[in-house]
Amino acid sequence: MSDVTPSPDDEPFILSENLVKIHKVADLEVVALQGLDLRVEKGELMAIVGSSGSGKSTLMNVLGGLDRPSAGKIRVNKRNLLTMTDTELDTYRRTAVGFVWQQGARNLVPYLSAVQNVELPMQLLGFSPRMTKRRALELLDTVHLGHRKDHHMVALSGGEQQRVAIAVALANSPELLLADEPTGELDADTASKIYEAFREINSRLGVTTIIVSHDRDIAKQVRRVIGIQDGKVATETRVETGHASRVMLDSTGRLQINKLLREKYGFSKEASIEETPEGLLIRPSGGN
Ligand SMILES: Nc1ncnc2c1ncn2[C@@H]1O[C@H](COP(=O)(O)OP(=O)(O)O)[C@@H](O)[C@H]1O
Ligand SMILES: [Mg+2]
Repeated sequence: MSDVTPSPDDEPFILSENLVKIHKVADLEVVALQGLDLRVEKGELMAIVGSSGSGKSTLMNVLGGLDRPSAGKIRVNKRNLLTMTDTELDTYRRTAVGFVWQQGARNLVPYLSAVQNVELPMQLLGFSPRMTKRRALELLDTVHLGHRKDHHMVALSGGEQQRVAIAVALANSPELLLADEPTGELDADTASKIYEAFREINSRLGVTTIIVSHDRDIAKQVRRVIGIQDGKVATETRVETGHASRVMLDSTGRLQINKLLREKYGFSKEASIEETPEGLLIRPSGGN
């Protein structure tokens, strides 16, 4: 297949370098992604934040094969999304990617029941009826909606509809699950349960998951958060398990240490960084 080219074994699941996407509308050009670098490991669960218009949806659409990149490098599981033919891109989107949208309903047929909605994509992929039924019920159980399987969409709450939408997105056993502001229309409590569902699915099925979010406390939900600004990665936050501290690193390598920690450890103007066997040790330096 022409979309698979040999590459080093340590290539991450998603590898984007200097990715550019220009939207052309009539004779106007909008540069939505301008040199975006991103690496995502197989099985990772991470989030993308950024203000409106920063390019989040464009990135998701490119990653999911809904939209073609303009230039740069973008590879998903060693597939080159820039050079794929239309047919290859179509197959990639249908078989390797699952989408969850802000309006769960976008993936759902209102006059079908929950289980029928989950069966639909498998029927379209030509799975046997028996296998389709079994798997649809399993997926509804995975999102804790087994007890609502025969309910139609109108009888389900917004959060429940979004769970059905997640089950639908998983129906084709995707390698990559993309969720574009899946909690945008949900209250904080329901949103938090949706994140819990994503975490559970990620650890159970191992599907690489990227969630675009507007939630301020998204960092409480996932281990890594990327901030996008003007079509480029501007910040990265990693949440270390067992530690409450989060450190921002911007694209020029500057660290941000939050106020609480600065005060606790007596940082004011200068810090020293020491290389130790465990990693870098940051301390307030003499100049304080
Ligand atoms: N299909 C499109 N045609 C033209 N311009 C677009 C299209 N999609 C997005 N854009 C523009 O690209 C930029 C990034 O948009 P988008 O990726 O939707 O950002 P976000 O999801 O972060 O709000 C914006 O300036 C937007 O107007
Ligand atoms: Mg968007």
